[in-house]
Amino acid sequence: MKPNLRIGALISGGGTNLQAVIDACENQSISGQVVFVGTDNPEAKGLERARRHNIPSFVVDYGSLLASYRHDPADSPLPDDFDLADIQKKCSLFPPGAETDRIRKFLETRAIAEAALITAMKPYPYDLLILAGFMRTLSPYFIDRVNTDRTRPRIMNIHPAILPAFPGVDGYGDTFTYGCKVGGCTVHFIDYGEDTGPIIGQRAFPIQPGDTLDTIKKNGLTEEWILYPHCIELYAQGKLQVVDNGQRRIVAIAP
Ligand code: GAR
Repeated sequence: MKPNLRIGALISGGGTNLQAVIDACENQSISGQVVFVGTDNPEAKGLERARRHNIPSFVVDYGSLLASYRHDPADSPLPDDFDLADIQKKCSLFPPGAETDRIRKFLETRAIAEAALITAMKPYPYDLLILAGFMRTLSPYFIDRVNTDRTRPRIMNIHPAILPAFPGVDGYGDTFTYGCKVGGCTVHFIDYGEDTGPIIGQRAFPIQPGDTLDTIKKNGLTEEWILYPHCIELYAQGKLQVVDNGQRRIVAIAP
């Protein structure tokens, strides 16, 4: 039987990767369909793309959740199943020695927003969750509630650089500032670190002396729109296996 992967998508902005995935589902280069689009940003332009394709969408407004926590944490109850010690032990987003109160506040606000995300996603059963320009780090609270089977990770991300170079929020900006002669993008599974999860696929493009940040972004996005659907289809076909040999977790791709 042909697989019919149910894909949930989280976005924060324009959603051109989301569009590439929707198009690939419609022209059947992905054997699946996008079943919801969620965002942390009420102004996300990509929401319009969901509407145009009759895909249900929702907003979990991280900005206002963070603001009310900052105003008075007592007004922002933590989820009942929040376990700070467990999450803190797993989380590798912070350098050693980072201030513990800052980490606690970060993990608490994340769990509040992520519990709201999980509630918003509940009506839409999905097999794979793709981050398509979702600009919020996911904490172990969320990751553990989505990745319930360790052998089959369910959260994929696209990052605008050839990881492990330039993790973080500005992959193309860092590529440009560094004077790189090659740029690229990476699709990987999410783990507890920042852009550190097992790599599924990468594409590269040359950078010429006349290139600007804008042309690098444009060329990079063109590669992303090819790479992301390709990796999602590999997942749909059951061809991705995370191999853990104790020292490293890598993705093996079946022929
Ligand atoms: C893309 O370049 C994607 O790689 C990047 O945001 C852009 C979203 O564009 N993602 C990250 O930086 C994640 N840390 P889009 O909204 O047009 O798909």
